[in-house]
Amino acid sequence: MKKTNISLLSIFLILVLVLVACKKSIYDKKLQCNSTISFSNQILPLVENNCTVCHSAGEAGYTLTNHSNISANAEDMLSSMKGIMQLMPQDGALPDSLIQQFECWIKQGKPNN
Ligand code: HEC
Repeated sequence: MKKTNISLLSIFLILVLVLVACKKSIYDKKLQCNSTISFSNQILPLVENNCTVCHSAGEAGYTLTNHSNISANAEDMLSSMKGIMQLMPQDGALPDSLIQQFECWIKQGKPNN
């Protein structure tokens, strides 16, 4: 009886470990960010061209119009650009190069530059 309990516990622990290992990270560990991303020249235009049309006044819980609200929501934004949360823009993912710019900007500390 005791042995069965221990086996069940081990199976449960292994399952938990597998689940934790499989949980998709929003970050790409291999991504190289060689150049400094500019908020005003790259990130703001990216968001204004692709997101602000629907997210300008709290639609779906997100206002994405300036450095302060974009940096506060950046992780959710990246997650939706990658389709880990609901895919955004809804009609098709952005080009990888733009998603990578956004990710690099986060990794560089979300500067207001
Ligand atoms: C055509 C309008 C539209 C565009 C463009 C758009 N969104 Fe959305 N977004 C929505 C709507 C509507 C929802 C709520 C969807 C729902 O709950 O079914 C939403 C939800 C979200 C969510 C929450 C997703 C979730 O799973 O809870 C995030 C984050 C988000 N948008 C970020 C973005 C970003 C970043 C962009 C630009 C790359 C963007 N959106 C572009 C309309 C849009």
